[in-house]
Amino acid sequence: MSPIWRVRAIRMVAAGAAALVLAALVALWLGPAGHAPAGPGEPTAAARLAGVGGPFSLVDQDGRPVTDRSWPDHWLLVYFGFTFCPDICPTELGAMTAAIDRIDPAGGKIQPIFISIDPDRDTPAQLKSYVALFHPRLVGLTGTAEAVDAAARAYRVYYAKSGDTTGSDYTVDHSSFLYLVAPDGTVVDAFPQGWTPDQIGTAIEARIAETEAGRS
Ligand code: NI
Repeated sequence: MSPIWRVRAIRMVAAGAAALVLAALVALWLGPAGHAPAGPGEPTAAARLAGVGGPFSLVDQDGRPVTDRSWPDHWLLVYFGFTFCPDICPTELGAMTAAIDRIDPAGGKIQPIFISIDPDRDTPAQLKSYVALFHPRLVGLTGTAEAVDAAARAYRVYYAKSGDTTGSDYTVDHSSFLYLVAPDGTVVDAFPQGWTPDQIGTAIEARIAETEAGRS
């Protein structure tokens, strides 16, 4: 490669990386914007997450009532999606649970939670077989349309049925972030779609260390 081409290649890579970071930040700034890949970026500033998160009251994959306070002393890693999602949800849940295995292999510190935004089809029984595909500790939550909507609104999750909504063949467009919730209930970070298990795990460990050092 001649020097001029090397410089051009470096500039293109740098511009591409900057564009990805900018896209991720803009996606978080504007709020949920559908299922488009956000690309890797820096973890969100806590200030951007002020007002995100809050109480929820749902049922788990065994039909038991649970709330956001059902896992005291745990960090929660929360993802909203639906079991019929063809690709994004499985990919994100795979990355989420791989990160959990990396940083909390024995369990006891971080609780992974999948909240369905498709309560019409995602019954507890449907969720039970689905979460088992990903991780033995992954909890699947659903509930009435009202309860699910309240949870989604608290986390500012966008979701809407699309396609043929007259029957059960519809799909659900939805935003895709992994929310990290501290034991006191504060959402301290949100990781955009597309992060690797290493990126997610490293970011979680950094947030936990910050909080435990009393700096967050
Ligand atoms: Ni999905």
